[in-house]
Amino acid sequence: MSAIIKAYQLNQAGPAIELQAVMLAAPVPGPQQVLVQVVAASLNYRDLLTLRGQNGDFADQLVPLSDAAGIVCAVGSAVTRWQVGDRVMSSFFRDWHSGPFKQSYLGAALGGGQTPGVLAEQVVFEQHALVAVPAHLSLAEAATLPCAGLTAWNGLFTRGQLRAGETVLVQGTGGVALFALQLAVAQGARVIVTSSSDAKLQRAKALGAWQTINYRTHPNWHELARELTGGEGVDHVLELGGLETFERSIAALAAGGRIAQIGVLSGFGASPNVQSILFMNASINGVCVGSAEQLNALAAFMSTHQIKPIIDREFSFAEVPQAFAYLAAAEHFGKVLIRLDQA
Ligand SMILES: NC(=O)c1ccc[n+]([C@@H]2O[C@H](COP(=O)([O-])OP(=O)(O)OC[C@H]3O[C@@H](n4cnc5c(N)ncnc54)[C@H](OP(=O)(O)O)[C@@H]3O)[C@@H](O)[C@H]2O)c1
Repeated sequence: MSAIIKAYQLNQAGPAIELQAVMLAAPVPGPQQVLVQVVAASLNYRDLLTLRGQNGDFADQLVPLSDAAGIVCAVGSAVTRWQVGDRVMSSFFRDWHSGPFKQSYLGAALGGGQTPGVLAEQVVFEQHALVAVPAHLSLAEAATLPCAGLTAWNGLFTRGQLRAGETVLVQGTGGVALFALQLAVAQGARVIVTSSSDAKLQRAKALGAWQTINYRTHPNWHELARELTGGEGVDHVLELGGLETFERSIAALAAGGRIAQIGVLSGFGASPNVQSILFMNASINGVCVGSAEQLNALAAFMSTHQIKPIIDREFSFAEVPQAFAYLAAAEHFGKVLIRLDQA
């Protein structure tokens, strides 16, 4: 085990936040902790928000990112769940292992606030904040599940109680959206995908989308979604857009429908007219990622249905700044990955 590891840190440099490559002392696991050799990490829009200073304050020298997978390389004296050599992935909230959400968990989201993240060659995790990688996934594929996959799962299944035959509207073709598409299709739902790109919509069709709408050429996509469902509206909306989309998402909803309120892709501070929520007996479920137990449930569902995450592009550890720039350009379809096992 090397004594020095490579990592990235975020530091406030005047008004800007800098992403810096650093060398750190290798972490040593405490009695309840597990040391993981990270093989791959994935980027989420949340990591861009953190880098842009739009995700609240964070400690200087914070190691960013929440999503990683790797191999257990050492365990603390009281660890019972893991052994050296196990294939594991991170759980987004260090302290949310199972059961209902508590507000106190928010401060312990990996790679935000005061809680160190995973963009390092070796990372120490609490033993309950890791989940086994399903056999059908590579470590690179597993590194995409902890935030994007789990959020889609929580929104559609845990909170949304999605059933076969229902309709789901998914916004865009980024990480959360494509997980939602794949999971909903596997559940037997009819999925409408919106995107700014016809080429991406064709790829969404190939993944099983029932209908597609270009939200640039059809800014009133909510009306089209209603038409496509024979005037009924959709049963579930995965609300990823925020400011520009929330009002339309409500207008696209069927009676008794559910919005999984998740994202801010078009900006913060949506103030939709929620009156029709009551007239439609509809609901809005706020979704904040999920627990380790829910990540396990997602892994089991993906195993049953042999679902593989959609990885758009891989970057090496040296190319982390380029990976952030690539995500910011929004050219991607699915997930952007960082390989730590490549120079
Ligand atoms: N609440 C939570 O727990 C949670 C967890 C994960 C993510 N999130 C949020 O969910 C959102 C998605 O995250 P992500 O990591 O999946 O992002 P991402 O991979 O970066 O997705 C970017 C894609 O979103 C689409 N998009 C952008 N603006 C849009 C708009 N106005 N309407 C519809 N689609 C739009 C674009 O797709 P096209 O190129 O196809 O147009 C873009 O390529 C973010 O706001 C993120 O902060 C929240």
